[in-house]
Formats: sequence, C-alpha cells, structure tokens
Amino acid sequence: MADPVTDLEIDVDLDIQEILLAASQHDTPKLRQLIRSNVTSGNPANVKDPETGYSPLHAAIAACEPDDDEHVKKGEPNGVQTNGEPQQHTSEQESTIQSAVLTVKFLLQEGAIWNDLDLNDETPGCIARRLGLTELYEMAVDAGVRAELLLNRLEGYEQLSDEEIEDEDEKQEQQEVGDAPGATEEEPIPQLVDAATATTAPTGDANPNVTNSRYLTSDLTFQQDRLLDQDQNGVMMAWESEIMAKSAKQLLPTSGLRVLNVGHGMGIVDGFFQEQSPSSHHIIEAHPGVVAEMKRKGWHEKPGVQIHEGRWQDILPNLVTQGEMFDAIYYDTFAESYADFREFFTEQVIGLLEQEGKWSFFNGMGADRQISYDVYQKVVEIDIFEAGFDVEWEAITVPTLEGEWNGVRRPYWRIDEYRLPLCKYMD
Ligand SMILES: C[S@@+](CC[C@H](N)C(=O)[O-])C[C@H]1O[C@@H](n2cnc3c(N)ncnc32)[C@H](O)[C@@H]1O
Repeated sequence: MADPVTDLEIDVDLDIQEILLAASQHDTPKLRQLIRSNVTSGNPANVKDPETGYSPLHAAIAACEPDDDEHVKKGEPNGVQTNGEPQQHTSEQESTIQSAVLTVKFLLQEGAIWNDLDLNDETPGCIARRLGLTELYEMAVDAGVRAELLLNRLEGYEQLSDEEIEDEDEKQEQQEVGDAPGATEEEPIPQLVDAATATTAPTGDANPNVTNSRYLTSDLTFQQDRLLDQDQNGVMMAWESEIMAKSAKQLLPTSGLRVLNVGHGMGIVDGFFQEQSPSSHHIIEAHPGVVAEMKRKGWHEKPGVQIHEGRWQDILPNLVTQGEMFDAIYYDTFAESYADFREFFTEQVIGLLEQEGKWSFFNGMGADRQISYDVYQKVVEIDIFEAGFDVEWEAITVPTLEGEWNGVRRPYWRIDEYRLPLCKYMD
C-alpha cells in the first residue's frame, strides 16, 4: 500500500525541483503557473534546493554563468571571479541575461527574498556580482533597498503603536498608523523579508549580536591596536585610522572651527580633530570605561575639549537648549541600530549644525558583504536626502585586513573600498 506521507514528500520535492528548473531555464510562464498552484508551505518563490541552498532567484542568476566550453575557448577557468567588474557578453549570453532579467523581476514581484544565502554563503546578488552581471546585480540591490526602506518604515510604525497615547493629537496620529495594513495591535505588521528564512544579518546593524545596553555595561579591553568588549567584539580598531584622518580633514579643513564628536572609542578621530586646533571640541561618550580612559589620558585638559558623559540621546537635547552650534559633527557609536542613527540625523543634527556646517559618520553598515554595503549606501542616501541634506561620497581603498581579526569575534569589514560620506544642508 502506498504511504501517503512519503508520497506527499515526493510531490513536494518534485514541486521544488520543477520550480528551480523553470527558474534556471528562465521559463517565466511555467514558473508563474508552478508558483501559483504550489502545495509547499510558505512562499513557493522562496523554495530551496537542499543540495546547493539555491532559491529560484539564485537559480535564475546562476544559469547565466557561461558553461565550461565557453571559458575554455576564452582561456578562463569556469566559475570566473569578476569581482564586480562588468563583463563583455556574446550576443547569445546577452539574450540569456535578458530572459533572466524577466524571470528575476517576476520572482521579486512574487516576494522572493533578496538576501537569502545559498550553501556557498552567497546571496543571488553576490552571484550576479561574481559573474559580472551588472544589470542583474543592480536589480538585486534595488530589491534590497526597497525591502530595507519599507522594513525601516514599518519598524517606525511599530514603535509608534507601542507608545502611550497622551493627547488627542497623538490619538489621531495613532489612528492613522493603525489604519496602515497590518499595523493594528491584534495583527502584527507583516514582514516584507521573511526574517526566519533570510539568513543574512540585518544589514543596518553595526553588530547584530550586541545591543547598546549590553555593550554599555560590558567590561572593555583596551589594547594598542583595538578596543574590545567583553564578548570580543571589535568596538574600534586601529586599521580605521586613515578613514578617521580623512574624515577629520574633510570636516575641519581649517583651524578655529567648532566640532562635536559622538563616540570617542580609541580617540583616533578626536586626535585628528585636535591637530586642526578647533576653537571648541565637544565629545559625547556613553561608556564609563571609555570615559575613565579618556580622563587617564588627560583628554579633559586638552585645548577646547568638553567631555559629555552619557548617551547622545540624553546629552544632545540639552546642548540644543543651551544653543550650542557646530561647524562639524561626526557620529561613530557602537551597537546602535539603523533606527538610532536615523533618529540622530533626522532629529538632532538640524538643531546643532551651522548653516554652512558639515557632518559625517562612520559608514560601516553592511560592510561584511558588498551587496549589503551597496544597499545601505542607497538606503541612507535616501533618508539623508529626506532629512534635508546632500551627501557626497569619497572612495578610500581599504588595505587587506588579513590577520587583523585574530582574537576578534566577528570580522565587521570584508570589502575593498570605504565610502566616506560628507553631508551638508541642501541648497
Ligand atoms: C567605534 S567607537 C568610536 C571610535 C572613534 N571614532 C575613534 O576614532 O576612535 C564607538 C564609541 O561610541 C560609544 N557609544 C556607543 N553608544 C553610544 C551612545 N549612545 N552615545 C554616545 N556614545 C556611544 C562607545 O562607547 C565607543 O566609545
């Protein structure tokens, strides 16, 4: 007698293989029919091949890789690494890519996850980049930007719906938020990216494993070339010195300016600010261990320096009330979320920065993977623009960091280029 459970499992496996095959053949009509009539649980646009970890998006993009023969003819190994360099394609390859574009577009519309990882630790976009498939890579980046922007907005709504309602205006606002689909108290807000199956870390977090409150009560270890928390997370590392030097020089091109730095760390950027002889130099630092180290090193006695002990969230409103204004502001904290950072530049900078002033930040969001870095550069650019600022980027080559991570829990930088942001009020 047939075993109904095994039969169902075989059907499901066949379904998955059919979906993946149609995706790799860029057969969009077939894919549509399979996805719409699928019996698997969850979104069929996100099924996975157990052997490769490929999703349909991976399969559609990987199928554009030229086969062995074409590589041999061109004298290249198969699986050629282009490292993001656009490639010349034959007309046959170009037509394959164009059919992949249609399939990828369809899959994204069906809710395919942009940052799902295969067993080779690649997202679909990573494969596109590796193969030099610029158009497909850009599609993956744009899908990431859309998903992250919407998630960030929905998180904002979620926070709002948790806040106590104190007056009628706020009640009204709450009502509007509640009207958004899925944002009622009973129904949780739907996740656009299925966090349970998307295996890459949230790209906006400096370090997904640490919260700011845990970090701020953590014991710190100060070494010559690094500052570590009690979990061996790299809070700051000396290899960032060139980035700090260039950031300081961009923000304070001349002496006699007023600067505010949020997050002292190893004092590297503050050292470069001091070299520019600022007329006033405010530093906000929340970790008692860092504050103690600053005092031990005599930072409180340096020219123009005022140390504010505490979190910027508590300090900045007082500085605004006191009417303090700055020509330059730098933000580089640790274990804060993208939402914290966005609050910083949308709510606080405007009350503290002179009309001709400039502000910048350590741009490390998503820096453990090129596609995440590219996604977050676009996300932050949109949010900075919305907050009323223009941003220019300067590319800085990062030296090879091999060996740097010995004794550090997790390498937080794995890409070749740092993009230094410089923000000013919009004209
Ligand atoms: C990455 S380090 C800064 C490195 C610094 N740019 C340098 O050149 O050495 C981050 C610093 O921000 C501090 N920090 C973290 N959260 C903070 C907050 N909410 N307010 C102020 N400082 C904070 C940390 O204690 C740490 O000293």
